[in-house]
Amino acid sequence: MKAVRILMCIVLLLLQFFCARSQNISWTEIAPGVWKGLIGTPESYDLLKASGATPNLAALTKLGKADFPFLPQAIAASLNDGKTQLRFPLEKNEQLYGFGLNFQTVHQRGKILELHVDHYGGKDNGRTHAPTPFYISSKGYGVFVNTARYVKVWAGTGVRRDSENFPTPKDRNTDKTWSSRPYSDAVEILVPAAGVEVYVFAGPKPLDAVKRYNLFNGGGYLPPRWGLGFTQRVMTKSTAADVEKEVNTFTEKGYPLDFVGLEPGWQSKAYPGTFTWDSTRFASPKKFVSDMLNKGIRLNLWLNPYVSPAAPFYKEILPLTSSHTVWLGAVPDLSLPKARDLFFSQLQQNQVDIGVSGYKIDEVDGYDHYLWPDVATFPSGLSAEQMRQTYGLLMQRYSAEIFKKRNQRTFGLVRASNGGGTSFPYVIYNDYYNHEDFITALINSGFAGVLWTPEVRASKTGEEWLRRFQSNVFSPMAMINAWSSGTKPWSYPEVEKQVKTFALLRMQMMPYWYTEFAKYHFEGTPPFRAINLEDGFNQEPKKEISTKVNLEENPYAEATSKEIKDQYMAGEYLLVAPMFTGQVTRKVVLPKGRWYDFYTGVFVGDGSVITITPGLDQIPVFVKDGGIIPMMPGLLHAPKIGEKVDLEIRYYGEKPGVYRLYDDDGETFDYEKGQYSWRELKVQRGGNGLKGTISAPEKNKPNTIGKITWTLMTK
Ligand code: GAL
Repeated sequence: MKAVRILMCIVLLLLQFFCARSQNISWTEIAPGVWKGLIGTPESYDLLKASGATPNLAALTKLGKADFPFLPQAIAASLNDGKTQLRFPLEKNEQLYGFGLNFQTVHQRGKILELHVDHYGGKDNGRTHAPTPFYISSKGYGVFVNTARYVKVWAGTGVRRDSENFPTPKDRNTDKTWSSRPYSDAVEILVPAAGVEVYVFAGPKPLDAVKRYNLFNGGGYLPPRWGLGFTQRVMTKSTAADVEKEVNTFTEKGYPLDFVGLEPGWQSKAYPGTFTWDSTRFASPKKFVSDMLNKGIRLNLWLNPYVSPAAPFYKEILPLTSSHTVWLGAVPDLSLPKARDLFFSQLQQNQVDIGVSGYKIDEVDGYDHYLWPDVATFPSGLSAEQMRQTYGLLMQRYSAEIFKKRNQRTFGLVRASNGGGTSFPYVIYNDYYNHEDFITALINSGFAGVLWTPEVRASKTGEEWLRRFQSNVFSPMAMINAWSSGTKPWSYPEVEKQVKTFALLRMQMMPYWYTEFAKYHFEGTPPFRAINLEDGFNQEPKKEISTKVNLEENPYAEATSKEIKDQYMAGEYLLVAPMFTGQVTRKVVLPKGRWYDFYTGVFVGDGSVITITPGLDQIPVFVKDGGIIPMMPGLLHAPKIGEKVDLEIRYYGEKPGVYRLYDDDGETFDYEKGQYSWRELKVQRGGNGLKGTISAPEKNKPNTIGKITWTLMTK
């Protein structure tokens, strides 16, 4: 008898061990409105460790206190099968955004995703360049799972037997309201590790949760002014003479240009790379770089981090690399200080020290067939999976440090990022080329704590070229990537004039762009973001009516909820509604409040859906009532340190307007020591026109503002 009892006890103990063990989550408020929850034993390597992100506590404190957005007991966690399961409540009319840089959808409720760093493969399935494990609810809160693992997400799909909101089953034979997707009251997340750190961000509005997340990551990077100018990436095998000729043509033709991107051909060998100049194409790199700088042109160098046997540091770094190669190049274990030192010293000494201004970090995302497989090992002991999820972060972090040490800002491109990467000086791009999806990615970038460029490469027609170019001008990086096509802004003569107008508009709007990026840095507001984050935008939980469901092909077809994925907010005041090839007319959803045409100042609507027919010459842009857009002359290069520029302040609408204009030296990190100012612009309609004032410059602070003129746009 005793033996049986002992046996039963053992069985019970084992059952307890192997069955899901529910976990208490201990929550700590680490900043106002930001809570950290600990479950089990979190791994020592995670996204925040890899990125080194440091919260901007002062700015978080300024955002103020807020209540924990859930009943604490509503969040469940358990350990099962060596993995952590998380469950967050989900109300009936809640919508979800985020879960990384998606390209085709904004609404994520109902999705099943595996968040995995990869080149985007045409489907929003979680495999993307920045699969940030962060989501935002339309109810005004955010959740971030800090793990460097491939995370699985069921964003409101599973229905648990013990659910408090278990729907009443319906009879499909007789009930027309039967749904293949019954209400699921939870977001469920599976982390393949026996413990994890989770963060909750309060609202009250969804934008507040986004801001808290960004500030928690240190805030967005403040680019140098030149980073917001125009950039051209030249053909891959261009020589120093070719580049010089191209740069001169920009000036002769009157097109703006701030930095030039050199593609793989600058290196003596690429794929894998030597990280050394090719002496046949660039005989004297130092002279070339300094000649370019003298012309006001900075250089950005392409690289992928896979090391060729011909690289000068190959032998030394080899023991510090992965078991597997990429294009037969060694993959440095960037979590090891010695490997980083070897790799980044080469970049610094060979390139940055002679004046190179930034990098384009390619192919740190995937595809699977060339990247290291999940069975690869790394000398640090980190797994291939952890490396895959964080390699883009590590490259961004340590390349950015080279510039930081020199008190010099940089701005470049990267193809992979992740949670924790908000404060890096990089914009994501890829090889995919769908204009519509590029705009949806721009919208989603604001939910993923990253920046994205809808880069322009080549086009089938002048119309397509112009339409893509127009969107690109209203994005974080205005760029032509001509690495393979050799296109120039003027390559399509039939739209050359319009392209030039937009390239110059990019420059004219620099004071606005620069201020909006400063807000990303200091306040956490993404400069490019979804209309869903806008005050006055009404979230409609309404479903699209799917007329014909083909039961043969898909007996579980469901109508999806309406989403807006072709218009976005650019900065505080602008709503951009791009036109795509072949489109002559489109609808634009205007949030509540009065809106005005950007080009003419004419009133267009208030909380309505308008139909517009803008013609080829314009990308539709609308300005909020009281909107103030500071502009400068259409210079060919961004103003240099100490250069003063005249401003034209455009004012739209009826409401008195207030805008805080950011100013600093535009190139260094001295703003971190207080060397910056916010100048207050105030505008209101007077008896016969407009009355505008600007606050006085602060003593001993950089002041780049010259003469000011005020323009009343809405007559
Ligand atoms: C691709 C990249 C392109 C270009 C090319 C050069 O992977 O996305 O923009 O840089 O490599 O080989």
